[in-house]
This record gives sequence, C-alpha cells and structure tokens, in this order.
Amino acid sequence: MSTSPSSETASPPAQRRLFGAPPRAGALAEWALVPLRLFLGVTFLFAGLQKLANPGFFNEKSPSSIQAQLTGAARVSPLHALLSHLLSYAVPIGITIAIAEVAIGLGTLLGLWSRIAAVGGALVSLSLFFTVSFHSSPYYTGSDIVFLFAWIPLIISGPGTRLSMDARIAAQAATSQGAPSPVLVAVPFATVQRLCGHFNESKCAARNNEPCEDAACPVLVAGDQGESSERLDAVHRRTVIVRSAATAVVGASAALFAAGTAEVGKLIAGNPTTVGVNELGATSVTTTAGQSSSTGSSKNLGTLLGAAKDVAPGRPAVFTIPSSGDPGIVIELAKGDYVGFDTVCPHMGCTVQYSPSNNMLVCPCHHSEFYANNGDVIQGPAPHGLTKLDIVEGSDGNLYLR
Ligand code: FES
Repeated sequence: MSTSPSSETASPPAQRRLFGAPPRAGALAEWALVPLRLFLGVTFLFAGLQKLANPGFFNEKSPSSIQAQLTGAARVSPLHALLSHLLSYAVPIGITIAIAEVAIGLGTLLGLWSRIAAVGGALVSLSLFFTVSFHSSPYYTGSDIVFLFAWIPLIISGPGTRLSMDARIAAQAATSQGAPSPVLVAVPFATVQRLCGHFNESKCAARNNEPCEDAACPVLVAGDQGESSERLDAVHRRTVIVRSAATAVVGASAALFAAGTAEVGKLIAGNPTTVGVNELGATSVTTTAGQSSSTGSSKNLGTLLGAAKDVAPGRPAVFTIPSSGDPGIVIELAKGDYVGFDTVCPHMGCTVQYSPSNNMLVCPCHHSEFYANNGDVIQGPAPHGLTKLDIVEGSDGNLYLR
C-alpha cells in the first residue's frame, strides 16, 4: 500500500501545530512565574501591613486581636495543645507573623532571596492550614492549602529571570568578573543546531556522526563546565555581597514604611467610628452571667443573664458564657423570641458583632457574615455557623442561659 506524497509532507507540520510548543514558547516561559510572584508578593505584603496598621490586632481586648484569633484556633486546630501554650506569647507571635509576611511579600515581589522567601511563605501557609483552615470541607475551599502549593514552583525554580533582582545581581556579578552570565535563557535546541558547526543533517560530527541529541550535546556540556572554579567563586562572593547590600537597603526602607503604617493605623483607630467591640456596646446592654437564679418558678431555668427588658429587637446584649469564658450574645428577633450565640468566629476566633443596619452578625477580621436568627454562615471564610445557645425567658422577666 502506498502513501500519497501530499499526506506525508503535510503530517509533521500539522502535528507540530497540535502538539508542539507554541511560537516563542521558550521566551514566554521566562515570564511564566511573574504573575504568581506578583499575586503572592502583593498578598503577603498586604497581609503583613494590614496587621501592623491595625492596633486592635495587638490589643487583647479587641475582637480582632491575635489573642482572640489564637484562642479560637486553639479550640479547633489539631495543634490545639501547642497553641494553648503559645497564648501568653500572642503579641510577639503576632509581630513576628506581620514582619515575616512583609519580608516574604517584598522578597517575592522583588525576586530578592526569593527561594528563601518562598520557603517562608510555604511555612506560613502550612501553619495557617493547621491552625485556621484545617477543617475546611471540601478541603480545597480553604485558601491556605492553595497558597501552600502555590509557593512550591517558586521553591523549585526560584524567581525566574524576569523582573528579578536575584537574576540581575547574578548577571552583573558575572559581567564584572568577565564570566558569562549565569542567567539561564531558554533557547530552542533547533537554534543551537543551526549555530553549531558540528550539526549535519541530524548527525553530530563532534560525536562521530551519532544522531544529534540535546541531552548528549558536547557544546552545551562544555559551556557548563568551561569556567574556572576561582572565577565562579569570585562571582558567587560578589553576588552574595551585592545581594546582602540590596537586602539592607530594602529592609531599612520596609521597616520605615511599616513603622509609618503602624502609626497611621493608630491615628485612624482613634476615630470612634472605627469598628471595635464598643460599637456593639453602644446600642446594647452588657450583663454579667453567673448570678444565681433564686426567684420563684424560674429557679431551675439556668444561669441568670439579666432582665429581658434590657434586650430589644435591634438592641442585643452581650455576656460571658460561664462554661467556656467565651463572649456570648442574646438577640430578640421579635417580641419575646430570643436567640443566643457564642460569638467566637469559627474562622479564626475573632469576636463577631451584631450589625443593626442589616440584622446580621459580622466578623471584623475577615468579614464572615452570619444570620442573626440561626447563626448560619451567609458568607465565609468561616467554615460553619456560630454555636447556638439556649436562651429562655423566665416568668420573673429575666433571661436565662440553659
Ligand atoms: S476570624 Fe476570620 S472571618 Fe472571623
């Protein structure tokens, strides 16, 4: 059986179009990591600055404090024993996390010590996975596991050659020592063959006319081994010195900027309209749980919270839950219809607050929203709803927690 000449000549280019690399794939591949670096760098830088700019993050009385978040995480994390011991170091831990996030973000954005930054980013994401999003279901709805795997390409390959201070410093150090640039540039092997004096119709004269192969190319291997170790040492030394100097300049600038951010945050926090735990208190009545109930038919209803008349629709009351020490809230949905919740956010343990304008409970940390009538999640990242409390009104006109 014969094959038509036209089909023989048409087939290879058609296959190349379908399965081969697109035009300029090698050059485009150098930019492949830039979007990922931009996203991870901006996200971590923003997260670190946001913590530094929020004085409530370091104030244990604030519902969005690191203490509140660690306490909440300790309740649900598989590392709860470790986290419980770390609670007394919450502020230093919070400062360390914020500074680490800024450093990781800057290193990733600038491509400076980027592999170390990527390892740091992966460790932060792994610790957040174990403390915050471990119970996300399905697992891929938690963001930390996605961040963890997003760091891995940067750990494996570094920042790439584009928009990278590491690559630029290495290239300049090599040039200053008269060595070829260490920056890897993707060149199609067909170009190497075209420029090579040994290539002749698929055979390699430098390999006794064996077939030409990229893995066994003597020209490429010689290029890798051609530099003396003294010169490479000199290039390496210069690279480390320049990189360290660049790190000092970037670090000092970042420290100044972070300190300025923290000061601006404090100024803004002085504004009474800023979200805080007192925002709820301004429209609600705080009662102290734990008083014993001793009147008439209400004797066995549970823990006395306070007078029912102190709670009204749109005007809830907060209290401390005796059994757990958690903050609780009681809301009157309609006349005589009370609901109560443990206000520890199931995401990272901040204290959620009642929002009278839309009759829902809102977390000040990452803006999870919950229905006021049953505590279910309206919008995450909280993985599930608030813990419901059993509130009853006694015949004596008081509210009780059962
Ligand atoms: S702690 Fe993150 S949404 Fe509440």
